[in-house]
Order: sequence, then structure tokens, then C-alpha cells
Amino acid sequence: MANSNLTQAKKAKNDEFYTQYHDIQKEIDAYIEYDENVFRDKTILLPCDDPEWSNFTKFFAQNFERFGIKKLISTSYASESKKYDVTYQPTLFETEDPQFDTEKTTKNGKIFILTQDKTGDGKIDVEDLEWHYLDGDGDFNSDEVKKLRDEADIIITNPPFSLFRDFLAWIIEANKKFAIIGSMNAITYKEVFPLIKENKIWLGVSSGAKEYIKPDKTIQKIGNTCWFTNLEHGRRHEPLPLMTMADNKKYNKQIQKKDSSYKKYDNYDAIEVPFTSAIPSDYDGVMGVPISFLDKYNPEQFEILGTSDNGLIDNKFKKTPGLTQKFVDDYYFGGGTGSYKEGNPTAGYYEDGIAKMAFKRIFIKHKKK
Ligand SMILES: C[S@@+](CC[C@H](N)C(=O)[O-])C[C@H]1O[C@@H](n2cnc3c(N)ncnc32)[C@H](O)[C@@H]1O
Repeated sequence: MANSNLTQAKKAKNDEFYTQYHDIQKEIDAYIEYDENVFRDKTILLPCDDPEWSNFTKFFAQNFERFGIKKLISTSYASESKKYDVTYQPTLFETEDPQFDTEKTTKNGKIFILTQDKTGDGKIDVEDLEWHYLDGDGDFNSDEVKKLRDEADIIITNPPFSLFRDFLAWIIEANKKFAIIGSMNAITYKEVFPLIKENKIWLGVSSGAKEYIKPDKTIQKIGNTCWFTNLEHGRRHEPLPLMTMADNKKYNKQIQKKDSSYKKYDNYDAIEVPFTSAIPSDYDGVMGVPISFLDKYNPEQFEILGTSDNGLIDNKFKKTPGLTQKFVDDYYFGGGTGSYKEGNPTAGYYEDGIAKMAFKRIFIKHKKK
């Protein structure tokens, strides 16, 4: 019990980091650039936030008029529900407000709403936000916040990473437009990948290492975060410039250094492409590429067939079941480790008779012109 509390506390602590204003701006500007009316007359919900000082709330409140937003709602999660020891301190904004409640301040979530010019200064901005305590703690799965989700047209936030699967399912089941931050590792989750493969969701424009703000105001660099969205942007329609396989072998130093480049896997009917930039322009078959390929994925240029992770690839691209199983057996026999499920290995090949696994791969093909 104590152990599981500790694990929970660790998870909750890892969920507690906040997004910088310029990172939100960079991403949202790309949607606006593609369609300046993307937020016009829309209700936007920012859940799992901390509206008093969240940059999401600030950014959308400051751009309320420019984007033509109809209604902005943001909700926060009660400090007491965060499951790890934070010395919570309500802000002056809250304590000086007549609504301030010494109990609710830790037990209840809060909701901030922006619809109109409350101050009468002739513009609608952050000063016009109205707030009150929620009845519950602001859990996105509560009936109270679900109702707000159902009211909203678009959901935008950086949700708790430990609940990413649940959070995405919560959006998808309500069939909403969204843009949310997550870890790139989520790409191959079995709940996420099929949506990417079917072009129902895709990556936003800004992936990679980013700096986030921790509760103690220090900066934390997180290596591989990205945006997941179903809002259109221009980058996903730009074709990736490529060279032929022969030119890559001749001019691409990275490819020359890697023996595994363009080798056929021994357990999948596909070739290994270790770098997205080295995808050969003239190979018609199936190619295994790093998951970071998705950052450059253009659905008019490529078709996604599956991923080596979680067995999310059509059996027709696997070698015969016997061979696939033999490869797994040989892999473990050769001292291989890792959590590859039997019969479901990631892509690999034999090197000097030893079965070796490549990294997680996404299987793609060029789209026929
Ligand atoms: C990664 S942080 C991001 C916060 C904010 N959206 C931002 O980007 O600045 C995720 C937040 O979700 C909160 N959270 C955790 N579990 C939650 C839940 N079940 N419902 C709502 N919020 C939750 C965490 O306490 C944390 O503040």
C-alpha cells in the first residue's frame, strides 16, 4: 500500500509541469496561419489547467478578440487531489476575492470563464475572466467537467502525461476538435497509433525537446514532447524532400556509417531506414522508419501501414509466423532483453547469425502518384 502510494505520488509529481507562453503561441499560430477562422465563434475548453496563472488561459484570453472566440472556459484540479506533497499557497487574486473559501481553496477545482468585456475598458482580455469554485475537484473525468467538454467545440491543454491514454479517449469519445501536448512515446500506444494511421489525428508543428516550468518555478527540459491534434496545419501538407537510394548511399554520411541501412528485416517484409531524412525516393516497398518520422509525415506523400510496437501491423507484412517466432526465440537465445512480447517482436535482422532488434519503427510506403 505504502509502495503504491509512493508510485502514485511520483507519477503525480511527474505530471506537474507547466507550458511556456511562447510554446503555446508557436503551435496555435500554425493553426491560425492555415485557417484564420479556426477558433471563430467557438467555445474553447482548457481543462487540467491552473487558470490563475496558466499560460494557456493567458494566451487565449489575450487573443480572444483576434481569434473571434465565442467563449473561453478553463478549469483547474484541486491541490488536495494532486496526490503529492505541495505546500499549496492560494494567490492574492483568490484570497482577496469575496468568494474566497478556506476549505474549497484546496478541495475544489476552479473554473474561469471569458465571454464579454466585464471591466468596461472596451476590450475583452484576461481582466474580464470570471471565476468560481467547481462543485468537485476538477477531475476531467467528473460529470461536471464532462459537461463542459460536451459544451466545448475545441479542447486544448497539456494534460497529465500519466493519464494521457484516458485523456485522449475522453476527447475522442466526445468527437471534439483538440490540440494537446504529450510524450512522443504515446505515438505507438495501441489506443493512439490506429488513430494516427487512419489520419484521424496527427502531430502538431512543434515537436522535440522543450522547456517547461516546474511548480517551484525552475525550468525542466523534457526531451521528446509533441502536440497531438486534429486541427489542420500547413506543415503536414509540405512534401519531405528526398534523394534516391543510390544517392543516399553515395552522399549521405549517416547512411554510410550504419551497416543496417536499407537492410531487409528478417521478421518483416520491409527495409530498415534508420533516419527519416534518408527515406529513399525510389523504393516502392514497405520501409521501417523511426517514430520521429511522424513529425514530417505528409498524408499525400506517404501511407502508414503499421508499427512494429504492440503488433500494430497487418499480418501480411510479417514474415511467416514460424519465421517470426524463430526470430524472437533466436533474439532471446542470443541474450536479447526487453519487453518484446512473444510473437510480437519489433523489427529486426540477423547480424553474424545473431537476431538483433531495431528501434521502434513505423512502417510506411510511398503513396502511388
Ligand atoms: C502537465 S500539467 C500541465 C498544466 C497546464 N495545462 C499547463 O500546461 O501549464 C497537467 C496538470 O493536470 C493536473 N491533473 C492531474 N490529474 C488530473 C485529473 N484527473 N483531472 C484534471 N487535472 C489533472 C495536474 O495536477 C497538472 O496540473
